[in-house]
Amino acid sequence: MYVYSGSTEFCFLQVGVEGVLAFAMAMAVYWLFLLSSLFVLRADAKEAGFDVRRHLSTAARYGVVKDVASNGFVPSEIPNGCDAIHLNLVARHGTRSPTKKRMRELDHLSAHIGELIRDAEEQNLSLKQVPDWLRGWKSPWRGKLKGGELISKGEHELYDLGIRVRGTFPDLFDEEYHPDVYVLKATQVPRASSSAVAFGMGLFSGKGTLGPGNHRAFAVTSESRASDIKLRFHDCCENYKDFRKKQEPGVDKLKEPILDEITASLVSRYGLKFTRQDTASLWFLCKQEASLLDITDQACGLFSPDEVASLEWTDDLEVFILKGYGNSLNYRMGVPLLKDVLESMEEAIKAREEKFPPGSYEKARLRFAHAETVVPFSCLLGLFLEGSEFLQIQREQPLDLPLKPPQTRNWRGSTVAPFGGNNMLVLYNCPSNTSSPYFVQVLHNEHPIPMPGCGGADFCPFEVFKDKIAAPHLKHDYHVICNVKPEAVEHRPVSGYAKLSAFFRWLIWGDDTKSDKVEL
Ligand SMILES: *[C@@H]1O[C@H](CO)[C@@H](O)[C@H](O)[C@H]1NC(C)=O
Ligand SMILES: *[C@@H]1O[C@H](CO)[C@@H](O)[C@H](O)[C@H]1NC(C)=O
Repeated sequence: MYVYSGSTEFCFLQVGVEGVLAFAMAMAVYWLFLLSSLFVLRADAKEAGFDVRRHLSTAARYGVVKDVASNGFVPSEIPNGCDAIHLNLVARHGTRSPTKKRMRELDHLSAHIGELIRDAEEQNLSLKQVPDWLRGWKSPWRGKLKGGELISKGEHELYDLGIRVRGTFPDLFDEEYHPDVYVLKATQVPRASSSAVAFGMGLFSGKGTLGPGNHRAFAVTSESRASDIKLRFHDCCENYKDFRKKQEPGVDKLKEPILDEITASLVSRYGLKFTRQDTASLWFLCKQEASLLDITDQACGLFSPDEVASLEWTDDLEVFILKGYGNSLNYRMGVPLLKDVLESMEEAIKAREEKFPPGSYEKARLRFAHAETVVPFSCLLGLFLEGSEFLQIQREQPLDLPLKPPQTRNWRGSTVAPFGGNNMLVLYNCPSNTSSPYFVQVLHNEHPIPMPGCGGADFCPFEVFKDKIAAPHLKHDYHVICNVKPEAVEHRPVSGYAKLSAFFRWLIWGDDTKSDKVEL
């Protein structure tokens, strides 16, 4: 607009008095055109280009989000003569059914919607605005007694990933299977080990003698859940569990204004007295319907694209605060995994340097776990940071929360850890480079991704990767991070006094969860 008023003056000088009328008409036409094109643009963005399945945070399905372009980043060419010699994979399990607790939440939602409709009928209110599907709606998972398992869509995600990985790195997977050459590890949670099996079936398909698919048996091993500090470090980390419990009320507080605003819109749009809890459950239902059942015109259809974007952001905030960069403990507790990755690379380098015979050394270490694994691991690699944030992290300064839409952000749950989301670290040997013969490439969801810790490169000299990205984390010790109580607590006697002082604090300040702020 500023630019245009400048040129208006210029036009007047040129055209003179006679031209004013014609000019004014031209202006009117111009503004009409501008306005109508603005409307068209808005409508376009909202309807045609909007795919709700890409806005489901960590409930997004892999195939829907894996190729969503990331800021036009152009990956570097792998120099000629470089060979991939080792692969580390850290993957999240594939799409899975809701947990038992969540299925119960949907049963409650169903009951409450029934009440709301009955109330409206009793008060003789019009139900014209109520979508048909809501009347008599029952959860698709009602009566199901067990949840959380990998579903068929999730099997395909991992199976197809296995096939693609073999296709992308033929030289890594040309050897005969041996459990020490191709190591598959999963957590002791069935959806993770099922994911490992689906991946392995794809990776080794056609290489065996079993059944029409010529499958072969392969090993998937797990640590005990109680001591799996490489893949379920969050579960063994007492300080993290304390932190999380303390933060959860604060996270809910952050979500409330958004939920309340959307609840008010839903109430006026559909004429039912939805509560904040209903809105939260309807959003959860939208995510499940869209990801698991490919239904996007029921629960998801209740929300406008802007509302979806806001709800997605609240989910992303939660991931950021409780699993991501929001607190250094979230990812520092992943040091045993980072150490394991680095050691596997060093062993692969040793095997190459000392010319070990084929079949005597590991070529891939493939891990199947959870969002609680993949998100912190991405943070340890320094992925998705913007601008000077890598330096802030190194100086232990807290990061700002991801920006609220319509502002853009790098931190999106649907990118960082969708179902089946993964990081692959490919170790390359470039023999012709005498100063730096080994490189690390990080593929996030199969696409090369820049590493802020390596000056924004996506093909990082191994020594730089080791010193600049891994070493600052590896100086921390898991057991100190996780199981030594922070100072304030440490000095307090364990027995009666602690309980007593907690009681007095409760007396004076009340329940301290109420005053909880989200500290980053
Ligand atoms: C409900 O509304 C309809 C039409 O508006 C009216 O005919 C009917 O008498 C009303 N019933 C009650 C119970 O108020
Ligand atoms: C060797 O690697 C370094 C990065 O460590 C790079 O700057 C250099 O160009 C490479 N040299 C050759 C000959 O490829």
